[in-house]
Amino acid sequence: MSESQETLSNLLQETRRFPPPAELAENANVTADAYDEAAADRLAFWEKQARRLSWSREWDQVLDWSNPPFAKWFVGGELNVAYNCVDRHVEAGRGAKVAFHWEGEPGDTRTLTYADLQREVNKAANALLELGVRKGDRVAIYLPMIPELPVSMLACARIGATHSVVFGGFSADALRTRIDDAQAKLVITADGGYRRGKPSALKPTVDEAVEATKSVEHVLVVRRTGEDVVQNGRDVWWHDLVDRQSDQHDAEAHDAEHPLYILYTSGTTGKPKGILHTTGGYLTQVSYTHHAVFDLKPGSDVYWCSADIGWVTGHSYIVYGPLANGATSVMYEGTPDTPHKGRWWEIIQKYKVTIFYTAPTAIRTFMKWGDDIPAQYDLSSLRVLGSVGEPINPEAYVWYRENIGGGHCPVVDTWWQTETGAVMISPLPGVTAGKPGAAMRPLPGIVADVVDDQGNPVPDGGGGFLVLKEPWPSMLRTIWGDDERFVKTYWSRFEDMYFAGDGAKKDDDGDIWLLGRVDDVMLVSGHNISTTEVESALVSHPKVAEAAVVGATDPVTGQAIVAFVIPRGSAGEEVEGDEFAGELRDHVARSLGPIAKPRQIMIVPELPKTRSGKIMRRLLKDVAENRSIGDVTTLADSTVMDLISQKLPSAK
Ligand code: WT7
Repeated sequence: MSESQETLSNLLQETRRFPPPAELAENANVTADAYDEAAADRLAFWEKQARRLSWSREWDQVLDWSNPPFAKWFVGGELNVAYNCVDRHVEAGRGAKVAFHWEGEPGDTRTLTYADLQREVNKAANALLELGVRKGDRVAIYLPMIPELPVSMLACARIGATHSVVFGGFSADALRTRIDDAQAKLVITADGGYRRGKPSALKPTVDEAVEATKSVEHVLVVRRTGEDVVQNGRDVWWHDLVDRQSDQHDAEAHDAEHPLYILYTSGTTGKPKGILHTTGGYLTQVSYTHHAVFDLKPGSDVYWCSADIGWVTGHSYIVYGPLANGATSVMYEGTPDTPHKGRWWEIIQKYKVTIFYTAPTAIRTFMKWGDDIPAQYDLSSLRVLGSVGEPINPEAYVWYRENIGGGHCPVVDTWWQTETGAVMISPLPGVTAGKPGAAMRPLPGIVADVVDDQGNPVPDGGGGFLVLKEPWPSMLRTIWGDDERFVKTYWSRFEDMYFAGDGAKKDDDGDIWLLGRVDDVMLVSGHNISTTEVESALVSHPKVAEAAVVGATDPVTGQAIVAFVIPRGSAGEEVEGDEFAGELRDHVARSLGPIAKPRQIMIVPELPKTRSGKIMRRLLKDVAENRSIGDVTTLADSTVMDLISQKLPSAK
């Protein structure tokens, strides 16, 4: 057995199964036949899904893979993304249907129907043209979660400008790097947005970033918070320019491979990678997966994805997928604890949300805050729950299902990446008997596998590296301006396979469990142990809300396991440091075996996370190895590391 196959077996001992509710299964959008259909003829399957959209010109070829890894999908086809997301629903008589129930953090609301959205997008498209933006130009968008954000994206898509949305929490430096890399001609921003009950300025950051760039000709500014902003010669107010435009605009069709957007992922090292997504294949797969994975019924569902549009989750599952499918969505501007910790549940109750999509980091935060908070709200409208961003610990899955999903909603754990553009591995809510913690199977039309370090498939029960073996419609086409890095990063580790960078294993049924980034795997006395597994064992203890595990250099075992643990709800006040740590070490040893027993457990109030909610284990490793703490600039909250260090007199 090669080293990569030698994994722990605890997750495989997870025996809880949650079959789909009968009613959901009977009326499901996608049934088990889809797997067979796609397996029989994958390209015919995707061709059929492409017909979900309205094309101005039919494609000549489904896939051109003559120059791998550079794929072309629906070659020769032409369509307009904004037309597909907006106009066609209006033309079909659904103009009065709500596209977005928008909820501002201070409690102000806006309702946008598909007809409203059409007018807003057309006006914004005309405004971009007036500013000299043309097809093929790049536009940086740095906005809070307000309706002008999807409107701006769709306006770009409409005229064929390529957008690059930069998350509103990023610094001037991060914004400047992204503007420069894409050579953006226009920046769309706002005076500010609301965060934690206060206006949070954006414009000064843009001023600082744009000062140091050469490509930007104009800055288009939405007034949201009403704060004073410095007016520069290149600035234009949204309400001055966009409001006076005609609400008519003829959408021109663009080539299926026309660049729709660039989205930067920071990764752990090096400069951010500009992930490029194009038009026809991307829209096909986000539309299909949103329909299949969430079982969306546009006539009756109210869908809410709590992500920020600054991440790919928001691009694909707040903007493009749901709008292509004519969904009614909720969009929320602020944080989950403003003005109180029940805000999200209050929103679900208010809009009678039926499908809810969020991240494990949020779920674990709610576990920490306590079960009594969601219990105060009527969440009975919910019927499907989704998770994305990290492996979901089995205990967090069960908590989510019980406390949010009333014990009856299927939880779909969706594995994908900025690079994949759309969900790749996930249960189907009307088909799959869910296993807590497993992403289960590749979706119909997707060919994924777990391979050893030689690239050979591991048998059921084995572990290794997650790979994608066939191109898929919404795959990244390249890294913007750097084909070589694209090939090197994703297509060089294994021959003819896409290397996702995640560890995974197949259980005895062949179902897939994600184990986290391969860089995070620990090597303890010659055993590969995944951080995810030890974290899940810790979170399965009733007094633990959240845990992060790292491998620290150890003279005896090579690496030793060091765990950082946040206690759950009221347990926080009760736990006695040493005794509690001992109890947890024994608990891990009992669930995973003595090899996985942490050398050290530190009780902490918070964990360091990126702005998209992923735990930054690198910084915890610095603590565990008694080094000075490395670069904290990508932390969501830069004070967290101080908080952790203060709590750790014994971390020597
Ligand atoms: C990485 C991609 C996909 C949108 C948000 C993140 C991890 C994502 C899961 C999941 C286990 C997951 C992987 C992946 N990841 N979803 N359901 N189970 N791991 O996009 O920032 O590009 O991150 O997130 O490690 O490679 P991203």
